[in-house]
Amino acid sequence: MAMQSWKSFLMPYEQAVDELKVKLKSIRKEYRKRNEYSPIEFVTGRVKEVSSLLEKANKFGIPLDRVGQEMEDIAGIRIMCQFVDDIDTVIELIRARRDMQILYEKDYVRNVKQSGYRSYHMIIKYTVYMAEGPKDILAEFQIRTLAMNFWATIEHSLNYKYKQHIPKEIQDKLKEAADSAFNLDEQMLEIKDEIKDAQRLFEVKSDIITNIMNNIMTLMSLGKTAEASRYQGMLNKLVDEGEVWELNNLLSTIKKDIIRYKESE
Ligand code: GTP
Ligand code: MG
Repeated sequence: MAMQSWKSFLMPYEQAVDELKVKLKSIRKEYRKRNEYSPIEFVTGRVKEVSSLLEKANKFGIPLDRVGQEMEDIAGIRIMCQFVDDIDTVIELIRARRDMQILYEKDYVRNVKQSGYRSYHMIIKYTVYMAEGPKDILAEFQIRTLAMNFWATIEHSLNYKYKQHIPKEIQDKLKEAADSAFNLDEQMLEIKDEIKDAQRLFEVKSDIITNIMNNIMTLMSLGKTAEASRYQGMLNKLVDEGEVWELNNLLSTIKKDIIRYKESE
């Protein structure tokens, strides 16, 4: 294929990578806007360079007119997560989508590769709408934690430098580093539960506080300004250190007051 036709061959892949990045990044945006924890930390994507595309086609004996059907990673997307269990959440999010069709999945998180490589791979079929009409392309998703990504990036550059023949002692070090990355992920997962508990408690409290504030406003609108400011003072004392039950007590006291005032009107 001439250079010009490579360019147009790769156009739908460029388009697909751009679109998929936007779609996955907006999942993160959506969580953040709702003040929720996002299972997606960040997303990257690339289209395979023509040189490495040709290299791979040669290596596997793929005829150039079959590259689109047989090479699955011309469009590549990486989704990075903070914690290992976020990977499963992301997998479910992708499985539920109607704009991409999963062809198959490879679980290198539970089935660690010989090299120490861990990641979850999904090969998808995706339709891009080009000027001439729709075109189906294949894309590869690699879903991994920050630690998995760190390791894979380093290992990849060493492989590049040594052309797959990494000296034994460096290989051993890489294996050790893979174990460390695994342990780091495990340790972080333990802390994640702590963080989640704290976040949940924060949400419960902020809901009650909002509710109390709304009721204090109602008191004001009923003309009970002295009561309203007394309750406001009580709320202020509870905001920082108050327990959930104390906030709930205050809330039900104010509600009872409101009912009483409304009845006596
Ligand atoms: P490819 O020939 O690369 O397509 O390998 P494959 O068809 O056996 O698929 P596999 O899912 O094993 O690998 C696909 C991609 O995952 C590779 O192109 C890399 O980006 C990544 N990958 C797989 N194994 C390793 C590894 O040991 N180290 C690193 N750094 N990346 C890997
Ligand atoms: Mg492959």
